[in-house]
Amino acid sequence: MARPGDPVGEIDTPALVIDLDAMERNLARMATFARGAGVRLRPHAKMHKSAELARLQIAAGAVGVCVQKTSEAEALAAAGIADLFISNEVVAPHKLARVAALARELTARGGRLAIAVDGAEGVARLAEAIRAARVEIDVFVEIDVGQGRCGIPPADRDPAAAVALARQVVASPGLRLAGLQAYHGKAQHVRAVEGRRAAIAAATAAARTTRDALERAGLPCPLVTGAGTGTHAFEAASAVYGELQAGSYLFMDRDYADNETDAAHPPFEHALFVMAQVMSVSADRAVVDAGHKSHAIDSGLPRVHDPDGRRRLAFENGGDEHGILRAAGGGPLPGLGETVWLIPGHCDPTVNLHDRYVGVRGGLVGGHLERLIPIDARGAVT
Ligand SMILES: Cc1ncc(COP(=O)(O)O)c(C=O)c1O
Repeated sequence: MARPGDPVGEIDTPALVIDLDAMERNLARMATFARGAGVRLRPHAKMHKSAELARLQIAAGAVGVCVQKTSEAEALAAAGIADLFISNEVVAPHKLARVAALARELTARGGRLAIAVDGAEGVARLAEAIRAARVEIDVFVEIDVGQGRCGIPPADRDPAAAVALARQVVASPGLRLAGLQAYHGKAQHVRAVEGRRAAIAAATAAARTTRDALERAGLPCPLVTGAGTGTHAFEAASAVYGELQAGSYLFMDRDYADNETDAAHPPFEHALFVMAQVMSVSADRAVVDAGHKSHAIDSGLPRVHDPDGRRRLAFENGGDEHGILRAAGGGPLPGLGETVWLIPGHCDPTVNLHDRYVGVRGGLVGGHLERLIPIDARGAVT
């Protein structure tokens, strides 16, 4: 196995490689953007599942990170992260007991845990677990601003729902109403800028109406949190959202790169690659050692990276352990043993297929292995 200092060519394949220089530029661009826009940044760590990367984000100015699952929160907390928001609903009593225990632990460490809710039964169960653990937790009422997933209707669709749920939170000892979660996931991948802008304009209007309804009812709404990589500049400019949850900006997958670009959003670079090696060649194809056990294909196949502009290759699915490369535009096929860099279609589920990142410094061509980075919450899906 390659060790720190070894040239890139010695990394065993397939490997999940971070181009550390590119990732650090992405990290800095988003931190600078959030600071300039006057909003908090709480990146989504469901994407990278790594305490080391969360620490880098926090060192660059993030207030903490989001996670999606109880076990993800536990894994990152065990690896040293103390300010976590489970931006998702948890309703199983045995899991809520773990949430309460974690809230207690993080509070004792000077940190904090927050969670989202979207129903009366969920709030009652959370309150029961929190009461039993004699602790407090920040609670965000989640509203559905267009994703059609979790969340109660915003006040423009149901004037009473959010007020009633927020009132229940406030009336539950140990639960602190922290604001609203208003995340529009579907808007992130609308290709046209105008489509994304319109979706977030509607989400913002719904969030504003709901926040105003809470405040009119005498309920605090200190923060509206949401946004992803594809739209965060719109939420940041809304004067409604106070916190951005973008995650994928750190790595930039192929699917995000397929969005129409927009000057309002910082430019992010591909920083996550599956490094693969050609293991078989024939007249019309080359076969690499990375199939969909190395990269997720829910958002489509990887794109073959062309770092030195030498050739264009098309990737075809070759199954679990194989990828088939065809020459696109008449260029040459790579030879046996050559390295090929794949840009995954979707970074989050790709990361979950690997135990560690291989951090490369000095570029994919000619760089060296700087460090291995654990994926602490790999497989943490409960
Ligand atoms: C609740 C929530 N917030 C933020 C994000 C971050 O989105 P992205 O990684 O696309 O920036 C996600 C991603 O699915 C999410 O589910």
